[in-house]
Amino acid sequence: MCGIVGYTGSKNCSSILFEGLSKLEYRGYDSAGITVIENSKAITIKAQGKLSNLKPELDKSGFTGTCGIGHTRWATHGKPSVENAHPHTSGRVTVVHNGIIENYVELKSHLISTGRIFSSETDTEIIAHLIDIGLSKGKTPLEAIAACTVSLKGTWALGILIDGYSDTLWAARNQSPLILGTSSGENFIASDIPAIMSLTNSVIFPEDNEIIEVSPDKISIFNEQLEEIRRTPQTILWNPVTAEKGGYKHFMLKEISEQPRALSDTIAGRITSEDLIYFDGIELPLNIKRVLIIACGTSYYAGLIGKYMIENTARIPVEVDFASEFRYRNPVLDANTLIISISQSGETADTLAAVKEARKSGAFTLSISNVINSQIPRVSSSSFYTHAGPEIGVASTKAFTCQLGALFMTAVHLGIKTGSLEQKEAIRLVGELRTIPSKMHSIIDQGAQIKVIARRYMSSTGFLYIARGLNYPIALEGALKLKEISYIHAEGYPAGEMKHGPIALIDENLPVVSIVPKNGYYQKVVSNLEEVRARGGKIIAIATRGDSEIADIATDLFQIPDTDPLLEPLLTVIPVQLLAYYISDFKGTDVDQPRNLAKSVTVE
Ligand code: M6R
Repeated sequence: MCGIVGYTGSKNCSSILFEGLSKLEYRGYDSAGITVIENSKAITIKAQGKLSNLKPELDKSGFTGTCGIGHTRWATHGKPSVENAHPHTSGRVTVVHNGIIENYVELKSHLISTGRIFSSETDTEIIAHLIDIGLSKGKTPLEAIAACTVSLKGTWALGILIDGYSDTLWAARNQSPLILGTSSGENFIASDIPAIMSLTNSVIFPEDNEIIEVSPDKISIFNEQLEEIRRTPQTILWNPVTAEKGGYKHFMLKEISEQPRALSDTIAGRITSEDLIYFDGIELPLNIKRVLIIACGTSYYAGLIGKYMIENTARIPVEVDFASEFRYRNPVLDANTLIISISQSGETADTLAAVKEARKSGAFTLSISNVINSQIPRVSSSSFYTHAGPEIGVASTKAFTCQLGALFMTAVHLGIKTGSLEQKEAIRLVGELRTIPSKMHSIIDQGAQIKVIARRYMSSTGFLYIARGLNYPIALEGALKLKEISYIHAEGYPAGEMKHGPIALIDENLPVVSIVPKNGYYQKVVSNLEEVRARGGKIIAIATRGDSEIADIATDLFQIPDTDPLLEPLLTVIPVQLLAYYISDFKGTDVDQPRNLAKSVTVE
């Protein structure tokens, strides 16, 4: 889950690498390092902790070289420390790595037995040794890298520098994300587009087991047999400004506020002027008898809502599974099962592996993803891209509502396809979808009310989130948001299940966040809230504007606009995102980069 970046061109590369790493810090932030070729020799600086700790080292370095690599780390093997921070050097070779080398123990003990000395506890360092050994046997850099990668088991995206080569760097990938950026007289490697998108929008996506040689004027890609492969660059339309904070205190707050625009972009081009879904370019199997949704974290909660949407409109049974469970449970699949994977990053290791498993068994896989050409869409039968733009905050917000938009459109499309949804009803639903961005705006405009509630409850040591139906996954999502950024324990529960256990937790110290819009479940949830009130619990209610009954029950109330029940989660989620945001901001935790987490979970 680390981030890597590399540059070769005519400019002093150290600030380009540092800037690139600052855009990748969401991928890991326990240590960072940069290596630059100075007078044909690699010089490395490293620091433990956030990237900002590397800045004084960079200022002291006096780097002038024009070819270098950088890394921001999320520890897998070896604790966060300067010794374990990348880049790692052995002899003439310096490497940065994102991924896990599964057979490193056996390779390392063999290397130690041949007299090699290690200076870190990482799996990565063996790569530098193996390439260095190849070079010392007279191999060319490409041959030495190919000989090394052939002996590795696991996942890798590598950036490699070799002493004596002042303007060339090498890269290699297997299952970890890597992109190549190309521009006039300069070229780049990076884990993700934001690292380089202020410098170029022309990007090449290497495939597994490829090795790349990068010089200022040329990018050459080779397969494992070192045969050259031609690949045309693609133009990326992301706007660099969307990857900046733009005056907001945190990316998370900016991304919450961007939801109306992000959703509009996701639905634009997918609905016609007659309010019909336009699914062109997205293939689906002919006779779908069952849908299986696989995802992790927040994307999994989007999947739970997708189940309600699809079952309602298309009357097709839907199961939702954590990707990490699905891939190991030998699921029953057939040609009439549609697998939908959901992943913001498109590179979550468990989801990727689950999709690959599903495809092996012949199932049709549709990916819903936010990152064009990321790995999951690439291995899927068909892809539905959301257009949330880059999501930098570790806590997923705008990507989630765009996933819901994509699932809603898929549900309406399947409803028409199966004949379960009348065209008139489909048009009404799509018309309602069109109103959601402006309703989102009106919620965001009242964010100050949530801030007041957040201040009141910021010292609570636990929260319960309850709801029913489509909003039950929003209770789960609200609890996850709070946990991951404020470190307060929170649990999401179906309101009707309270009496089977959790009601024992209720007292005046436990705030109960209740999502209770005026829908078919309303009276049932109100009854559950009465039970909470009778036991002295504090109720924070998210309810429909104009609902006076709930105003009498709730300790604190936040009102949202009315909409069709199938679309409610796109609105009810915003107050729970804001609540988590303001509580953690008041507590002073690191909102955008919470401890122990990383944005893209590319390890199992
Ligand atoms: O990129 P993905 O959607 O596959 O990521 C899945 C989860 O890792 C992600 O949603 C995670 O739970 C977020 N930090 C939640 O805010």
